Amino acid sequence: MERKLRLAVLISGGGSNLQAILNACEQPEYPAEVVVVASNRRSAHGLQRARSAGIPAIAMPHKDYPDRSSHERQIISEIERYNIDLLVLAGYMRVVTSVMIDRFFNRAKSLPGVMNIHPADTRAYQGAHGYEYALGLLPENPNRLKQTWITVHFVDAGVDTGPIIYQAPVPVKPNDTIDTLRDRGLAIEHQIYPLVIQWYAENRIILVSDQVHIRSV
Ligand code: GRF
Repeated sequence: MERKLRLAVLISGGGSNLQAILNACEQPEYPAEVVVVASNRRSAHGLQRARSAGIPAIAMPHKDYPDRSSHERQIISEIERYNIDLLVLAGYMRVVTSVMIDRFFNRAKSLPGVMNIHPADTRAYQGAHGYEYALGLLPENPNRLKQTWITVHFVDAGVDTGPIIYQAPVPVKPNDTIDTLRDRGLAIEHQIYPLVIQWYAENRIILVSDQVHIRSV
């Protein structure tokens, strides 16, 4: 088998997407491996998930740094030692800058090297609280949607504005609460994030003029 794609995963919280990726990586034929996990929160449960899988897990609280760029520089210097091919944001609640994005551009694939998962259609809603948005609980959208989306996208210098790689629909049911909708959405997130990472590893993702095409096998 060819060399596996080396992933660094940044998290801030529970890390259920990280767990889905770790589970996928346990399959011998899966073409990627998580080599390091880092968090801006010491209490992020995802750090425990990484350690349980025998993966280095580093806490770098942003509050310990005077500004965003010094925090980001520290993350870069910690994770680049692992010779990574793709930086995966999985519930990482910090904006990343062009310094990080440029540093991890994947020259071998001529593709952006930072990916994110967002629990909404990034064309309609950016930022935190995507499931609340779908339920009409935010001022940006007082109307409940009938269907929302999960988006996996490349990260650019904006907030949830990078090229969309793949989207999957999530039905919003009339009696949904935030918990039931999030549970349904997360189950879909856990399927599609490992899948998109697999496509990336298999060179199936093509980016032309900010439009992604997925090559069939
Ligand atoms: C997910 O809903 C993800 O789409 C969003 O943050 C949440 C992270 O959940 N970016 P988890 O930490 O992976 O459980």
